[in-house]
Amino acid sequence: MTPKIISTDQWLVAAKLRRSVYNLTGTSSVSDSRIENILQQVLSFAPSSYNTQPVRLNLITGEKHKQFWDTIIKTAEPILKDVGEGIWHTMGALMESQKAAYGSVVFWERGDTIREASETHKSAAHMIPQLGDHANGMAQILAWTALELEGLGASLQHMQAIPVVETALREFCGMPDDCSLKAHLTFGDIAGDHPIMPDKLPFSETLKIIK
Ligand SMILES: Cc1cc2nc3c(=O)[nH]c(=O)nc-3n(C[C@H](O)[C@H](O)[C@H](O)COP(=O)(O)O)c2cc1C
Repeated sequence: MTPKIISTDQWLVAAKLRRSVYNLTGTSSVSDSRIENILQQVLSFAPSSYNTQPVRLNLITGEKHKQFWDTIIKTAEPILKDVGEGIWHTMGALMESQKAAYGSVVFWERGDTIREASETHKSAAHMIPQLGDHANGMAQILAWTALELEGLGASLQHMQAIPVVETALREFCGMPDDCSLKAHLTFGDIAGDHPIMPDKLPFSETLKIIK
């Protein structure tokens, strides 16, 4: 029987605490070493299909985090301005507010792992990339919730929406060429109130009991 460490409801309460928090300060009441320890724990038990472990993480804090966002902003600016000054006005301000946060956890996927798994598990080869995304999302939710339980705020960002930004961040983070950027979690101390839960669809639409 699985040992009971905390109750199911305690775990659900903890998971429910996680929110997208955008008002972040450039400080962290949690030490870098504690956050590193949390990420190590996530990596040590998070699931992946066939236990292939394609997830790779970076922890970027302090001045390096400012440089990380400067890289995003510098690379994205000409592209977004090309789309429209209005877009740049909105996105540029959003990026500056993210730069003001203390740190980011960057989630990558090792392409070589995905390719090797597609060879080893030929019958599921067509699904392996999708399963890699699932595994990445599972690591993301674990890290995101853990940071919130430490009292920090965090929001999930996808700057790889602009492909050249992904290339620039791969270089900035010194990640191998086969790594693809899946998401990054910007975090810091929370300025102001913790956000309330957004409305959800009724269970009549989202849950079907079949028995
Ligand atoms: C897969 C996924 C992708 C998301 N991408 C972004 C994003 O790129 N930028 C952002 O600000 N929030 C992003 N979010 C946050 C959602 O907007 C947010 O989770 C949702 O509105 C519910 O709010 P909550 O996180 O406070 O529960 C993403 C969330 C998920 C699960």
